[in-house]
Amino acid sequence: MQYRMLGSTGLRVSEIGFGCGNVGGLMVRGSHDDQVDAVRHALDLGINYFDTARAYGEGKSETHLGRVLDEVGERVVLSTKVRLESDALQDIAAAAVSHAEQGLARLGRDSVDLMQLHTRLVNRRDSGRFGMTPDEVLGPGGVLEGFKRLRDQGRVGFFGFTGLGEVEAIQALVDSGEFHSFQAYYNLLNPSAGQPVPQGFSALDYGRVIDRAAAQGMGVVVIRVLAAGVLSPTPESGGGTSREPLSAGSDYERDVARAHKLGFLQDHGLESLPQAAVRFALMKPEVSTVLVGFSNNAQIDEAVACSGADPLPGAAMAGLREMWDSDFGDRS
Ligand SMILES: NC(=O)c1ccc[n+]([C@@H]2O[C@H](COP(=O)([O-])OP(=O)(O)OC[C@H]3O[C@@H](n4cnc5c(N)ncnc54)[C@H](OP(=O)(O)O)[C@@H]3O)[C@@H](O)[C@H]2O)c1
Repeated sequence: MQYRMLGSTGLRVSEIGFGCGNVGGLMVRGSHDDQVDAVRHALDLGINYFDTARAYGEGKSETHLGRVLDEVGERVVLSTKVRLESDALQDIAAAAVSHAEQGLARLGRDSVDLMQLHTRLVNRRDSGRFGMTPDEVLGPGGVLEGFKRLRDQGRVGFFGFTGLGEVEAIQALVDSGEFHSFQAYYNLLNPSAGQPVPQGFSALDYGRVIDRAAAQGMGVVVIRVLAAGVLSPTPESGGGTSREPLSAGSDYERDVARAHKLGFLQDHGLESLPQAAVRFALMKPEVSTVLVGFSNNAQIDEAVACSGADPLPGAAMAGLREMWDSDFGDRS
């Protein structure tokens, strides 16, 4: 396992992180014995970064992870998240503190290394799906104020957020310089957070926000590297329990169709789509760690094997560039 710095936090994190979310879902739905076995296996292979949230199984992931880490007795870099909804708007800072405290209680910890906002970001409030504006995060009485109170109490080391929602709002949080890391949607089907894509690219263009964040000294945590399991040998069976689109223009059926178009990677010696996907994400030096949602130990092995592997061959990258430039062949 190779390690990288999480931005300027001083935290040294494994290139592969253990995603404790719903997709894969070991820490949500697995038996206690399987969870202990998987975490021991991951630690043995050098994984030291674990990402959870209350939203994963309504608190189950945090509860299970805390219990398992107590049992294995090793110190890891631990991150969790708070998802604030409309009922938090009356006193956002207080809601952030209270949700974070509940998370710490489920984890059975006095503190965590990284507390992240899990709410999607919007430029302004409208009648659509709930999201928080940059002002509600950064302004007086906002999320950040709550996070700072927690840091002052020694309950949180650093602050992060989820880079999902509207791009301008994500960029506003990055540019604020107030956050130490963010979670970036970055994969072979939508690489726009870290690669140029043509105007009109049908998936949301994140405008190379990874580079922008790294320029601020932020850590970058990649999510959805396997497009929730679609980037697997059998794309149709990916997607785990949720096929909800996380990112505009990346709906499940389109992702499956596009994953099939990546079959050409085999001609360049890349036998496994998951390995190609993880190696691709790790090629970007601005990335600190790549989270994978595991459902078994073989998947941990496969992801870990990517750390320290060669970058994708030039011809494979040229083929990928052609895919992105042509919007996966949808435009000539
Ligand atoms: N902040 C946020 O809003 C947010 C959003 C998404 C994710 N995350 C974080 O990122 C983590 C990663 O999860 P993700 O949702 O992004 O999913 P992902 O890692 O893109 O995909 C996980 C899925 O890939 C499959 N998989 C894993 N390794 C495989 C392999 N070697 N071969 C074939 N299939 C493989 C598993 O499939 P099977 O179930 O078929 O075995 C699993 O369901 C989460 O656990 C969470 O920590 C955060």
